[in-house]
Order: sequence, then structure tokens, then C-alpha cells
Amino acid sequence: MNQPTALTRAISPLLGECELTHLEREVIDIRKADQQHHEYEQALEKMGYIIRRVPEAPHLPDGVFVEDTAVVFPEVGIITRPGAESRRPETKTMAEILKEYRELRFIEAPGTIDGGDVLTLGKSVYIGISQRTNREAINQFSEILKPFGYKVTGIPVTKCLHLKTAIAQIEDDLLLINPEWVDREIFPDYRCEHVHPNEPNGANIMRKDNWALCPSSFKYSLEWLSKRGYDVISVDQSEMAKAEAGLTCGSVIVT
Ligand code: GLY
Repeated sequence: MNQPTALTRAISPLLGECELTHLEREVIDIRKADQQHHEYEQALEKMGYIIRRVPEAPHLPDGVFVEDTAVVFPEVGIITRPGAESRRPETKTMAEILKEYRELRFIEAPGTIDGGDVLTLGKSVYIGISQRTNREAINQFSEILKPFGYKVTGIPVTKCLHLKTAIAQIEDDLLLINPEWVDREIFPDYRCEHVHPNEPNGANIMRKDNWALCPSSFKYSLEWLSKRGYDVISVDQSEMAKAEAGLTCGSVIVT
């Protein structure tokens, strides 16, 4: 088994021209974004990941959000076909790196899917049907994963960009969820903790072993994670938030 690795990519100087779906455009401080991304990588290192940067793509505004380009399973890596046309060139360099770790499959047109819409809970894979991800891609995912025993289920996502904006697995049987954005009845086998209403994005966090990584602006999620006994690392994600990106967007985890 490879040492747990987080694949990341440098921030593009064009980040301010990124895709936006639910947000109004605000000025992004690129130097600050760069610093925040570096601190995010340092936090992932502290959690036990090796950081490996995929080749820079300064001409691709959203290139830093590598999560959307690939989904990694123990048995296979799936290279996505992002829903925003401007983001499709991001996948090429990810595939060049990821092929060192996994046999690859590729989502083909007319399928479109962003990795941020894919939540894997054991052998169940939930995929947001969103502005970025369509049923054709979900069918392709299902065909790719069927031989490995996975069941794929599509879930409508309309009020946020990606499924993983609204939900995270915290423990084997515990989810953190925004019930306004995702129907918790879809997960009857799990206990569901709701995010605080003041923090609708509060479920977009990362956990590994006893570590929990959480944006510093999510005061309620931070407190809840601390009370549960996690070693919580908080990182300032203010500039990424303006780019409509969550914490998970900045890496592809390969274990
Ligand atoms: N800016 C993040 C995205 O739209 O994909």
C-alpha cells in the first residue's frame, strides 16, 4: 500500500476568474490564497499525508480544486469529465499522475461529473445530481464500479454546488449533514448530526484518524469536533470560499 498521499495543485494567478454558481464574484487576494493553500497542505502533512503536487496549470482558474478531477477507490481511479467546460482540461495532468497509483477509467461525453459530488460510504457511493453532474456520468460510474461490488445512488443536489458541500462522514456510523441541502432520510443506517444553521457549509471538513481539519470560520463545527475529542486543526479558507470552494476541493486523497 502507498503511504497516504494528498495530491494538490498550485493556485492559478487567474483564480479570480474561477467558475461561480451560487455566489457573487468578489475580489480574491491571490497572495493570501496562495498562503492559505500552503497552510492547508501543511495541515494535511500534520494529519499524516504526503503532499504531492500535480503539474501547475496557471492558465486554468479552477485548477487548484483537484478534487473535481478524479475519484479514487482502492481498486480503481476514475478520471472525471467536469461539468464546467472551462474545467475539463484540468483532468489531463491529474490522469498522468494518478496512473502511477491506480488503474484508470475515464468518464466519457455526454457524461459530466465533478468529484465533489461523489461521497463514498463503504461500498455505497452517493453521487449528487447537480448543475455539474448528470445521470449519464452516474450510470458510467455505476458500470465501472459494479465489478468491485459498489452500489451507486444518485441524489438531487440543487441548493449548493456539490454533494460534499453538504455532508461528510465523521465516523463509521456518523455523518455531519446540512439537512436543508441533502435529505437525511437517504442515510437511514447512519446517525446524522446537523450543521449549525449559521454555518450552511459547515460539513465540508476532512477527518483522518483522530485528526479533524476544519475552516476557522466554522465556529460551531470546530466546537463540535473538539467536544467529540478530535485533534482539530483549523485553517483560514477565506479566499477559497470566495471561489465557491470547500476544504475537500483542494486535494485528491490516495491511500
Ligand atoms: N469555483 C469552483 C467551481 O466552480 O468549480
